[in-house]
Amino acid sequence: MSAEQKLRLGVNIDHVATVRNARGGAYPDPLRAAKMAEEAGADGITAHLREDRRHISDADIEGLMQVLSVPLNFEMAATEEMQKIALRHKPHAVCIVPEKREERTTEGGLEVAREENRLAHYIAPLREAGCRVSIFIAADKRQIDAAHRIGAEVIELHTGAYCDAHAEGDVDARDRELAALREMSAYAHSLGLEVHAGHGLNYETVQPIAAFPEVRELNIGHFIIGEAIFRGLTPAITEMRRLMDEARDG
Ligand code: PXP
Repeated sequence: MSAEQKLRLGVNIDHVATVRNARGGAYPDPLRAAKMAEEAGADGITAHLREDRRHISDADIEGLMQVLSVPLNFEMAATEEMQKIALRHKPHAVCIVPEKREERTTEGGLEVAREENRLAHYIAPLREAGCRVSIFIAADKRQIDAAHRIGAEVIELHTGAYCDAHAEGDVDARDRELAALREMSAYAHSLGLEVHAGHGLNYETVQPIAAFPEVRELNIGHFIIGEAIFRGLTPAITEMRRLMDEARDG
């Protein structure tokens, strides 16, 4: 398999910080998890600095920038504060996500179409600073077109609805979501956008997404960190990598 076709795995370490913050101390250390993930074959590390700092902290981002050998995908809301932080650190990639304080996790994709003008101006300095800008959106043609128009290089498709339908055993909804993700991956790729995907993926749901030839990267966190409790972080990542490669080769 050529490097061009290889499906990258970005390991999201937010929830190592969630466990740390439950006691307000120094461990488990997300930086240690990131280095371990790197050694286990992660192609990148993803971390979301939320406005309320409920998991990843400013110091974690600073530490990740210092210790990582693989690229950091810095997830953030499109706020002025986050833009300043991103411009200070200049991570490899910045993924713009919607954020609501009351949500438990990122619930939907970004409404790019409604905020096109503001977002175009918002991402311009990030691109000038050399960050690859990725926009986290639903599998919706309107949003993909808008992400393309504002100059994003990457879109990340939200796989949450597909994963929820799978968990609920709603086969029709799961297949509908999967078909939309498949069609929109191909559409975004045809516009020249690099396509990533993520949210809620686990060992049962990863393979159909990994099999889409246009998808270049999956970002996976919560399930891997949870699974690490039972098998350890390295085996949890190794198994995800194996499933991804199996789906890609098959
Ligand atoms: N991609 C994006 C843009 C996200 O916001 C998240 C969650 O932070 C993920 C991927 C990873 O989702 P999960 O933790 O459910 O695997």
